[in-house]
Amino acid sequence: MFAIAIIFFISLGTPVKSISKLNTVVDDCGCTFSYSKYNEVVANCSSSENSDYSCVRTQEPVYLSLQYQNFTEIPTALYRIPFNSLKQLDLSRNKIQHIPQDFLKFFPNISNLTLTYNHLTDPYELMHIREYVITHLAYNKFNCDCKDSRLPTLRKHMPKLHTSVICATDDPGKPVESLTVHCHEILSVENNWTPLIIIIIISISIIAAI
Ligand SMILES: *[C@@H]1O[C@H](CO)[C@@H](O)[C@H](O)[C@H]1NC(C)=O
Ligand SMILES: *[C@@H]1O[C@H](CO)[C@@H](O)[C@H](O)[C@H]1NC(C)=O
Ligand SMILES: *[C@@H]1O[C@H](CO)[C@@H](O)[C@H](O)[C@H]1NC(C)=O
Ligand SMILES: *[C@@H]1O[C@H](CO)[C@@H](O)[C@H](O)[C@H]1NC(C)=O
Repeated sequence: MFAIAIIFFISLGTPVKSISKLNTVVDDCGCTFSYSKYNEVVANCSSSENSDYSCVRTQEPVYLSLQYQNFTEIPTALYRIPFNSLKQLDLSRNKIQHIPQDFLKFFPNISNLTLTYNHLTDPYELMHIREYVITHLAYNKFNCDCKDSRLPTLRKHMPKLHTSVICATDDPGKPVESLTVHCHEILSVENNWTPLIIIIIISISIIAAI
């Protein structure tokens, strides 16, 4: 039993050095590689507990799937070295809380970024995603203040990102499937009473005048 376990771990640690151009699925770098119908390399590291990103990078995938990794942050090993081949990156279904400022600098050719079902909260971090990268962001609990002076800049940035975000003070953190650039302002209790108070004051003045 023990011997079998050792053989199993040794085989895991021995990556196949190069992938031949087959139309089959190949396991390497802790991930599964296949070819798209356009003969582009597709890397699937979803649910994998031992992906080696420098190894993945050498296979020059165009598409990389990293779902269900339990990431609370984007691993720096993924983006400290340029990843030129990548056009689509799927980081959905993790617990990512932040988009680092320099993150996309290492993906010069990316056109499609998926961050659905994560734990992002600060919509201003979307400014770190350069314009015209199609970004999927549904099911994050964005929180923002409608009075934030940066909101107009964010609104201007969003259409070029091909996505948008809700800033709601009345229901912060509500996950939304289809995100739009809206700012809902809640009327405070004071504000609700203001018209009534004005009417009462006017009525009293009228009665007093009579
Ligand atoms: C990636 O592999 C997982 C199984 O590990 C599978 O459930 C998932 O559908 C695959 N994703 C893609 C995009 O092929
Ligand atoms: C993520 O966490 C779940 C629950 O703790 C665990 O079952 C799963 O193996 C983890 N996935 C990875 C890729 O570490
Ligand atoms: C990615 O971008 C780099 C530099 O911007 C460029 O030299 C390279 O050819 C591109 N690679 C692909 C696969 O598009
Ligand atoms: C972007 O990638 C996601 C999966 O990561 C896919 O569902 C979607 O269709 C892609 N969008 C475009 C425009 O390529």
